[in-house]
Amino acid sequence: MAKRLDLDNVNIYYGKFHAVSNVTLSVPPRSVTAFIGPSGCGKSTVLRSLNRMHEVTPGARVEGSVKLDGEDIYGAGVDPVGVRRTIGMVFQRPNPFPTMSIRDNVVAGLKLQGGRSKKELDEIAENSLKGANLWNEVKDRLDKPGGGLSGGQQQRLCIARAIAVQPDVLLMDEPCSALDPISTLAIEDLIGELKKDFTIVIVTHNMQQAARVSDQTGFFNLEATGKPGNLIEIDDTEKIFSNPSKKATEDYISGRFG
Ligand SMILES: Nc1ncnc2c1ncn2[C@@H]1O[C@H](COP(=O)(O)OP(=O)(O)OP(=O)(O)O)[C@@H](O)[C@H]1O
Ligand SMILES: [Mg+2]
Repeated sequence: MAKRLDLDNVNIYYGKFHAVSNVTLSVPPRSVTAFIGPSGCGKSTVLRSLNRMHEVTPGARVEGSVKLDGEDIYGAGVDPVGVRRTIGMVFQRPNPFPTMSIRDNVVAGLKLQGGRSKKELDEIAENSLKGANLWNEVKDRLDKPGGGLSGGQQQRLCIARAIAVQPDVLLMDEPCSALDPISTLAIEDLIGELKKDFTIVIVTHNMQQAARVSDQTGFFNLEATGKPGNLIEIDDTEKIFSNPSKKATEDYISGRFG
């Protein structure tokens, strides 16, 4: 079930290094939010703070609050593993289990949980592959290894795997950057479909992509190397790309840097 995310005054550190400062934003359910901005400004870092993947790095920590439908995911007693199940992630490079079958790739997480019959798992695999717009291409080869698919198919397989566990939120970090233009368009179409059921946050270097797929866009920037990145502004995507409030945003989207 799609849920909303609310970040309040989030500061993110790698050891002593203050990577991102003071991010406050809200992500409404059933919508797509895009993060754009120059390299190193902290987009991936913020994304990883949204499902507690950030703290997997030794010494890394998050201050401030990240709430999922009002519940702080960093609250006392909250299990980070459970958070990562409810807030799924798709990475830049497709990372299927290469030798595992296509079907098992999709339901790997659910199999680990146990308690479901083969028939149930097969149904979930089919529905997830349909949800990821991959079913027609793989339905006759479900027992073949995931590593045998094209890059774009592998990325859709990873999306199928992410949605198989029915997360509340889907995080995507440059999911198309390793893909050709046709596969990229397939993923963009898919994102448009997925937002009917999921809350989506996507990091992209591609401003046209942000403009095409997202409802709201957040622009992050970095004043100088070694300084923390920050959220300059976040607004309706149309507004950000036509009439942003901040000069830094305008310079960035019109290709004038610094
Ligand atoms: N594991 C890490 N340990 C220490 N510093 C890190 C680590 N990962 C990222 N950083 C630093 O945090 C800052 C933000 O990095 P991040 O990867 O979030 O940027 P980004 O906006 O996603 O960049 P890109 O567009 O290149 O992917 C950078 O200064 C980066 O060097
Ligand atoms: Mg990044």
